[in-house]
Amino acid sequence: MKEFRTIGVLTSGGDAPGMNAAARAVVRTALARGVEVYGIYRGYSGLIDGDIRKLGPRDVSNIVNKGGTFLYSDRCLEFKTPEGMAKAVATCKRLGIDGIVAIGGDGTFRGATDLTNHGIPCIGIPATIDNDITSTDNTIGFDTAMNTVIELVDKLRDTCESHARCNVVEVMGRGAGDIALNTAIASGATAVVVPEFPYDDNSICKRIKKGREMGKRNFIVIVSEGVGSEYGPALAKKIEAESGVETKFARLAHIVRGGNPTLVDRVFASRLGVFAAEALLRGESNVVVCERAGELVTLDINFALTMDNMYKNTLKPGQLDKFNEEEIAAMKARIDDRIHNLMQLYTVENKINI
Ligand code: F6P
Repeated sequence: MKEFRTIGVLTSGGDAPGMNAAARAVVRTALARGVEVYGIYRGYSGLIDGDIRKLGPRDVSNIVNKGGTFLYSDRCLEFKTPEGMAKAVATCKRLGIDGIVAIGGDGTFRGATDLTNHGIPCIGIPATIDNDITSTDNTIGFDTAMNTVIELVDKLRDTCESHARCNVVEVMGRGAGDIALNTAIASGATAVVVPEFPYDDNSICKRIKKGREMGKRNFIVIVSEGVGSEYGPALAKKIEAESGVETKFARLAHIVRGGNPTLVDRVFASRLGVFAAEALLRGESNVVVCERAGELVTLDINFALTMDNMYKNTLKPGQLDKFNEEEIAAMKARIDDRIHNLMQLYTVENKINI
């Protein structure tokens, strides 16, 4: 078995509250095992440029409660080129980095598997506010982002109530409606629009018109960014025109990605960090740490990414060829579960939004 003397930790892609707690857990777990840790700054860009510093236990003090990522982040295009990869591998060889914990989303995992294939064992930790990694029930930052959304929507509701208005609120999530569905329920929204399920503007307008006729003053409509950036502003205009209710549009955007992580994210991120570091040190690589029904498990990154592509309808020709029937069936079952869970949320939202 490979002996690890030094590992690296990086954060990459869109930042997520709780990334600091995860990195801190990786650093301290490895140090406690006598393994040195390098912080790789700006994700894979730092690996290419050598923007790397050795971290001691105190270097990760006072960050468990902080949003953002002290390691900074980047979406690095150069890393996808053979030249970029060669520079990254050379940096690892020069500094004696024997393995890397990569914290981020699906793009981060694609980088991690490429690096593993070039001889540097990597483990992925899922961190993205979107919760759009099919292989895991939960991602770091999701809980905090949802709590931020409901705090902001509660404020919008106050002013909507005073002025008898409607507010259409667009929330992040990329192609995933998880943030929108959960926050629509939790903020008492009148309607929710997500890319996973069909939506009908006319029925939303009718519902708001009827609500106003019955004396309802404020209306909140949550729209997931996955339905397109034009949709929310257009819906706000349509609601106003067809229901007579004055309607504002608000795009919460990146504000939802910042802020101190919730307790749930701090604990979850710490668990993942410890688990990932221990898995790497016992010789696992090319895996992503996932939460399944409360348990942490590791899953092959290629399997996880392919399942993700299957879910998002972005499979490339021949991509399934390296998987057997049982594995493909497991992917399909997982996808059905995910849709089923989202549908349950959607049904709950629809039953209580009158
Ligand atoms: O993946 C996280 C996320 O915040 C998405 O919700 C959003 O679509 C995207 O990243 C925004 O990316 P950027 O930081 O490049 O603007």
